[in-house]
Amino acid sequence: MKQKLVSCFVAMSMCGFLIPFPSADNMSMSNPVIKNNSDNKTHTSDNSTDNSLLIDNNTPVQISVREDTKFLKEKFGSCFSVGTCVSPHELDTGSEFILNHFNSITPENELKPDTILNQQASELYGNNVNTQVFFNDNVRKTLKFCEDNNIPLRGHTFVWHSQTPDWFFKENFRYDGADVTPEIMNQRLENFIKNTFELLATDFPNLKVYAYDVCNELFENNGGGFRKPGSNNLSMGKSYWTKIYSDDSFVINAFTYARKYAPKDCKLYINDFNEYIPAKTNDIYNMAMKLKDLGLIDGIGMQSHLDTSYPDIKTYENALNKFISTGLDVQITELDITCTDFAVQGKYFKDIFTLAAKNAEHISSFTLWGTHDSISWRNYSNPLLFGANYSEKEAYKQVMSITNADIK
Ligand code: XIL
Repeated sequence: MKQKLVSCFVAMSMCGFLIPFPSADNMSMSNPVIKNNSDNKTHTSDNSTDNSLLIDNNTPVQISVREDTKFLKEKFGSCFSVGTCVSPHELDTGSEFILNHFNSITPENELKPDTILNQQASELYGNNVNTQVFFNDNVRKTLKFCEDNNIPLRGHTFVWHSQTPDWFFKENFRYDGADVTPEIMNQRLENFIKNTFELLATDFPNLKVYAYDVCNELFENNGGGFRKPGSNNLSMGKSYWTKIYSDDSFVINAFTYARKYAPKDCKLYINDFNEYIPAKTNDIYNMAMKLKDLGLIDGIGMQSHLDTSYPDIKTYENALNKFISTGLDVQITELDITCTDFAVQGKYFKDIFTLAAKNAEHISSFTLWGTHDSISWRNYSNPLLFGANYSEKEAYKQVMSITNADIK
């Protein structure tokens, strides 16, 4: 449904986890509204405690959870989009389940630099700066699924230390080249972002790309700013971006280019993990505020790869509140919760969903990092709502037991 917003309401506008965790390797959202992209509500982004949303005629709509549905996207339909990451192979057998529960999809690996950057074509292009991208059949499968089923897509991601080949940062796009200068890298980054959005628009004209993680996992865990310079492919956790650039201009530039080439209604995010560690929360906050002042960012993505033993819900809530205090949108982008006890996990999932629903006016989208345990990247400790063959776990039951009294 198209929004008819009253103009005065429109502000035109791994890694080293502290918990056991494997490494993987222009519209400013200033007050007062954020349009949710997947349903017919509008998010206010002031700090009002009124638990309501504004719809297009400015009639407040009470945030509520449905108690008469078994599907996640319906349960939280008035709160936020509910998403999952998807790998193409799951679409062969899991499409009905996905369509029932979710109204947002993040390709798990299919839009990452190492999947879409085309080394040979970039080198052959010959001018050292025109980064070429391509979508292989797997990538196309996920994008087409979203397009055919009208599921809005979260794009993930452009600037990341991980899953990015070293040749991208070297002369002539060759592994044996010397490192390029920041000036050359700026042009490569711009063309990477431009060519990706152009390919999406050309080959998937009806696909709605509603959000994009422009930068992912920029910061050290314990404060101190950006990751240390180096190749993550040689020394886990280091960043080639900070090896090329001595300042934050790659972040500013990435958002500048994304703002220039992304579809108008695609919101732009900075996304990170361990985002609840206070020193890291601060680093993310400071960068987001700088980008907000420049009118370049729409929101902050909280990956939320949690464990039942850490962090506690209060620590997580503190980070959420700090991000909300920016006045930007917040999205929960990759939630999973490792555990040793399904009952404890269920309670934690319920607490996180309850917290998010209470703050729904500031949270436009809530994504789980996968549908069921056996296909999770953290499958060794069963971190999702469903078990093998989409069996309902205690965590799912707890989440579905949330009532309107819980979110008051
Ligand atoms: C993970 C995928 O789930 C795995 O399949 C892949 O092998 C590694 O990356 N933070 C992110 C995601 O931003 O892209 C990561 O996804 C998980 C951590």
